[in-house]
Amino acid sequence: MTGSAAGRRVVAILGAGGALGAAITARLAAEPDTDLVLSDLSEASLAATVAGIGAGDGSGAGDSAVETVLADVSRFEQVEEVVARAVKRFGRLDVVISNAGVLSPNGRIHNLSTDDWERAFSVNVMGAVNAVKAAVAVMRPQGGGSIVLTASVSGMTAWSHAAPYCVTKAGVIQLAKVAAVEYARDDIRVNCVCPGTFRSAIHDDLPEGALDPVAARHPLGLGQATDVAGAYAYLASDAARWTTGSALVVDGGYSAP
Ligand SMILES: NC(=O)c1ccc[n+]([C@@H]2O[C@H](COP(=O)([O-])OP(=O)(O)OC[C@H]3O[C@@H](n4cnc5c(N)ncnc54)[C@H](O)[C@@H]3O)[C@@H](O)[C@H]2O)c1
Repeated sequence: MTGSAAGRRVVAILGAGGALGAAITARLAAEPDTDLVLSDLSEASLAATVAGIGAGDGSGAGDSAVETVLADVSRFEQVEEVVARAVKRFGRLDVVISNAGVLSPNGRIHNLSTDDWERAFSVNVMGAVNAVKAAVAVMRPQGGGSIVLTASVSGMTAWSHAAPYCVTKAGVIQLAKVAAVEYARDDIRVNCVCPGTFRSAIHDDLPEGALDPVAARHPLGLGQATDVAGAYAYLASDAARWTTGSALVVDGGYSAP
């Protein structure tokens, strides 16, 4: 069971800014008895997410109390601080959602630099590793919890000109599986969501038209961030109490053929 004896649940979202972070936040803020710790690298993105749930003064949305923390997920001590703030304010931490991610520059492997690879690994892989490490430090002594990582369907299928992104998202899927096995005895579930393509600022640096062939490969067309948010609510909830190590695909049929 996730939640305190009083029935309240504390959820921390890393990468709560941006399109999907805002959609996940809105979805969870609408659930009863849920308090939120929202974190992002970008102050402006985080403020937009908070404003989106009607908690502009930070005092709460609906019955949710909201705490915000600026943090870079590639820095373990900053992720630890997010978790520490949850415990300091709410006394516990039931769910951690690791959602920060960056797209690599559009290019074939021989044209990508070591910096391109290192940035993708430091945010996409180490961000998720840091989230798992910081979460389990609180959840093990607490007696359990749920961790949800944002991977991508690109971690299961090949997307030309995006090797660092595909490789690091495959790493996130594998991290969720290994962590699920390692922490099952601590009653900590670890899963990931593999979205197909939905429009967001992550695509801003792509050349004009780069998404057209990607869109054509989605039988249901490109999605919206709100189409994906329910998967997080499910994996975070007790309805998924027997689900761990899964990679939940929400991709408009992209990976079906
Ligand atoms: N948009 C898509 O088509 C798509 C598809 C599959 C998976 N995803 C994944 O969904 C997640 C959210 O992406 P989005 O599409 O909403 O993009 P977005 O650019 O709108 O949001 C990404 C957020 O991550 C934050 N972020 C980036 N680096 C960070 C860091 N080092 N520390 C903390 N926060 C950081 C950004 O500030 C931003 O708020 C990412 O993990 C992305 O890889 C997106």
